[in-house]
Amino acid sequence: MPEIIKLISDTSVSSCTISTHGATVLSWNVSGNERIFLSKLADETNPKAGKGIRGGIPLVFPNFGPWSLGPQHGFARYKTWTIESKTDRSAKLILMSDDETEKMWPNKFQLIYTVKVTDNKLLTTLSIKNLNDGEFYDSQSFDFTCLLHTYLRVPDIKTCTITGLGNSSFHDALTEKSEQATNQEIKGLHENVDRNYSNTNDEHLLKFDDTCIEIRKSNLPDTVLWNPWAEKAQGMKDFGNDEYPEMVCIEAGKVAERQLLKAGESWTCEQVLTEMKKFVEVGDSDEEWNEKYNK
Ligand code: BG6
Repeated sequence: MPEIIKLISDTSVSSCTISTHGATVLSWNVSGNERIFLSKLADETNPKAGKGIRGGIPLVFPNFGPWSLGPQHGFARYKTWTIESKTDRSAKLILMSDDETEKMWPNKFQLIYTVKVTDNKLLTTLSIKNLNDGEFYDSQSFDFTCLLHTYLRVPDIKTCTITGLGNSSFHDALTEKSEQATNQEIKGLHENVDRNYSNTNDEHLLKFDDTCIEIRKSNLPDTVLWNPWAEKAQGMKDFGNDEYPEMVCIEAGKVAERQLLKAGESWTCEQVLTEMKKFVEVGDSDEEWNEKYNK
């Protein structure tokens, strides 16, 4: 059985839970409002071996999407991670390569995932180290794609606004076509969407009702936008038929191009989710944002 870690912010306004199954963040609650979607069929306390959890923030590594060497989205999301350290507000989890991962992907690595919670932020940092020693492998370098597969909870995706994708081209996984985004804001999703946007803004806003969640990413140039909609939801055993309007996946990743990592080197990326106090018009400078909201 996986262990569930609970973190709580200084003034107890915000809390989060993380499963050692995949180091999956399962929940992020701010002022009594759950901001992360976890399917009611996810079975997160007893997840299936070799399967990720349906919802939360699964970690995709070492491959995004279908993979010739192993399961879709890689193995990090279902391996059991070790709790390296924990305080009330933060946890550090580690995944080392082992016989199972090396059979699929013959490389030695260490993943370190740090999760911190403040009153209005959820900070997640993933560090990947290449531990190949060169004796057993043709090449000491390895390459990977990686992604934080964040499922956000919304009251109704049809009425949400998503920003930060307007300047990018995207590959539509449903039509297999590449297109240029034209709208600065996406006004709701209204059908099955599965798009891989390249070189997106480092900041996205998800707005609904009087709420605004900022998704700020660093060293993660791409963003995947996904909602299975009604028909595909019916084909998923771990996702309720009626749950698709309550979620959207805005997935910060390094996926358009594989990341090369030499032996002994590390690569780090970060995602920070922030619950803003109220709407901020797009175009506000970082200085203005910090002045208004990040004091
Ligand atoms: C998204 C992909 O990241 O994950 C979709 O773009 C995929 O194509 C979705 O369907 C869910 O994947 P999985 O493996 O968790 O069912």
